Amino acid sequence: MKSIKKDFPILSKKVNGKRLSYLDNAASTQKPKAVIDALSHYEMNLHANVHRGIHRLSQEATYEYEKVREKIKNYIHAEQVDEIIYTKGTTESINLLATSLAKLYIHKNDEIVISTAEHHANIVPWQQACQITGAKLVVCPIDQNGDIELDAFNSLLSPRTKIVSISHISNVLGSINPIETMIKNAKKYGAITIIDAAQSIAHLPIDVTQLGCDFLTFSAHKIHGPTGTGILYGKYAHLTAMPPFMTGGDMIKTVSFEKTTFNSPPYKFEAGTPNISGVIGLGYAIDYLSQFSWDEKLNYENSLTKYLIESLSTIHGLRIIGNPSKRSAIASFVLDAAHPHDIATILDEHGVAIRAGHHCAMPLMEHLKLPATARASLSLYNDKEDIDQLCNAIEDTKRIFQ
Ligand code: ALA
Repeated sequence: MKSIKKDFPILSKKVNGKRLSYLDNAASTQKPKAVIDALSHYEMNLHANVHRGIHRLSQEATYEYEKVREKIKNYIHAEQVDEIIYTKGTTESINLLATSLAKLYIHKNDEIVISTAEHHANIVPWQQACQITGAKLVVCPIDQNGDIELDAFNSLLSPRTKIVSISHISNVLGSINPIETMIKNAKKYGAITIIDAAQSIAHLPIDVTQLGCDFLTFSAHKIHGPTGTGILYGKYAHLTAMPPFMTGGDMIKTVSFEKTTFNSPPYKFEAGTPNISGVIGLGYAIDYLSQFSWDEKLNYENSLTKYLIESLSTIHGLRIIGNPSKRSAIASFVLDAAHPHDIATILDEHGVAIRAGHHCAMPLMEHLKLPATARASLSLYNDKEDIDQLCNAIEDTKRIFQ
């Protein structure tokens, strides 16, 4: 795959006087010029509120906004366009599910299964649902490599299992979870299956129809789109049965002071004026990525990930956290010589952007007996030079702290 760095204007920026090596893609990805230009065109030529105007601009904005549903449907292979709900991001999507399913479906002594390696967005909403309903949060363990313990997962499933909500890829360990098997096994007990695809949407092909999951969530900014926008995919039968999450304009059919009737999905879950430009930007991000085949993307990213792991492994005193059987483009590490926050600070002086901290996964950090890790995460626009720059900066960190 040819270098696509030049398509992303921010990547040619100097940071602290140095070439930028942007390796914080698990936190947020950068936007190609095609997306930035499309957003600017929308703001300068098309913006108006959607679903509300008779006038020309509102119709054009509505058309641009609605056509993204079709793009997302095709991208994740959903069956129907009205199974695609626009949200603020993965966190709102999971909150919507936890709140709505708690009202409809989760009862006292039911069980909600997650894993040790979830980020807070896939823990806290379920804890809240448990508090409201009296259900129990059940945590599936991971092994010392960072892989889900499948035998333990299977033994946790029972007729009490109402929800299984699992990340496709761990944002800390990079482990790709065996979601096909997990969904199939959870289905034997009639559990609702939810896949948090925040870290996988840009890195793996996803086919919700083939997977058979009930819901899937992701955020636009992890796939080169704008922040504040995300997707909740849900099987239409569930969406019809579920009560709304937020209420207000656009999600209603009729309102009187005595009674409100709700709109059909997806609109039932989209109260208020949405992030119109965010959705439109997401559509252009999907178009941008779709010019490359999955074979091209996977080959390039897998070889770059291999180079990252091999390069980090040569650094004396550095420990990579986790050794999953299938790894995505993420590597967490610690140094004997320096705290992760210090590593990130010195790396920044070298123009290298990584994340350091608990990565919104405090229970996982507790499990790993670590206060924090440093994390490098790749995207298609990274190259070997970015990784060499990272490793040289780590060597410099060691020199300073030793
Ligand atoms: N979930 C994002 C990360 O892992 C914010 O950095």
